[in-house]
Amino acid sequence: MQSSNQRFAQRIASVRPSAIREILKVTQRPEVISFAGGLPAPEHFPTATLGALASEVLASIGSTALQYSLTEGVPELRAWVAERMQGVWGIPTTPDDVLITGGSQQGLDLVAKAYLDPGDLVALEAPSYLGAIQAFDTYQARYLTIETDGDGLIPEALERSLSQLSVQPKLLYLIPNFQNPSGTTLSAERREAIVRICEQFEIPIFEDDPYGELRFAGTPQRPLASFSSRSPIFYAGTGSKVMAPGLRVAWLLLRDPAIRAQVVPLKQASDLHTGTLAQYLFHRFVADESRFSEHLHTISSLYGTRQHAMVSGLRATFGSDIEFTIPEGGMFLWATLRGIDNTAALFPYAQERNVVFVPGEFFYANAKQHNGMRLSFSNTDETKITEGLTRLQAAVNAYHQAS
Ligand SMILES: Cc1ncc(COP(=O)(O)O)c(C=O)c1O
Repeated sequence: MQSSNQRFAQRIASVRPSAIREILKVTQRPEVISFAGGLPAPEHFPTATLGALASEVLASIGSTALQYSLTEGVPELRAWVAERMQGVWGIPTTPDDVLITGGSQQGLDLVAKAYLDPGDLVALEAPSYLGAIQAFDTYQARYLTIETDGDGLIPEALERSLSQLSVQPKLLYLIPNFQNPSGTTLSAERREAIVRICEQFEIPIFEDDPYGELRFAGTPQRPLASFSSRSPIFYAGTGSKVMAPGLRVAWLLLRDPAIRAQVVPLKQASDLHTGTLAQYLFHRFVADESRFSEHLHTISSLYGTRQHAMVSGLRATFGSDIEFTIPEGGMFLWATLRGIDNTAALFPYAQERNVVFVPGEFFYANAKQHNGMRLSFSNTDETKITEGLTRLQAAVNAYHQAS
């Protein structure tokens, strides 16, 4: 076993399996209430509509939808993405700027592959999305973690860290809306400040925005990519949370033709192109604007209701022993419990009582903090949320008794 391992490339040593995927294995058991995975509510997958659209696509353009296609993506979908990014989000975008990817996870991988040599620095929020850290790990990145608070990444902390470095990070990675895992949203003033700092230090930004369309409270904020900047801003959006992750349809905006010319061949080398049928299906669904807005409204409202159930349940269950973020959208909140400084140690007590969450330590690229936990509300109905919190309270009591 060991001798065959030694034949692997060096980069293998820096790749870790996702702790969340391991936890998700536990959640397969029906008796488990899971606040762990960031899973969309499957009852609102548009299954019947997609079934009808699939028949329509196959009957009308079957030979195109089942054929090899362009690496950049099918033209109709690229045009739709450009129009939405420009029209709804104010990001100057033409169809040529859009690369359709296999999930936004692939967008992360492609930009990392294009930019990172072993040992290069990536600046990111502490805590941050585990899947991004995993993607950067593959290219043997090192990390500069930047302090955050209830309004997201702190620009002054970013500027201070950068001005102390002789070699700058190759990328700043951030999730501006309803951040995974913390649920926080970057304030409007901070967005522009961060764009200016990165422009000054010539650092490209990867703006990962899978949740921006899932707002159920507050006011939408303009994306960082909508500010003009001399430094590139890669914006990644995805169909995973607004429709269905199983389709694996997402988009990466590469608005500089010279950068695009470098990144597109990397996708070509990786998978030739994203599944053609899935792209047509997604496009047919979203092209009907009123259907898509209604769908977005339905799922955002549902997540709003569930967030509310979780927030009031946490208050009722733990009172002043808990602190947590109150997200204005998305799927997660972040909580700390008084007297619990290691949520990974609490986890087995919770698992034993058939409730699971993700211990916060997994979301730190560098120095780990152990006292947080990510609680997802999107995939659990209100009754189960209440029951899950009762179980969590029992786990906390048992933990205290044992320690
Ligand atoms: C912040 C963030 N980025 C990217 C992804 C990956 O999404 P996709 O399904 O589009 O690959 C996720 C999924 O949970 C996420 O939370």
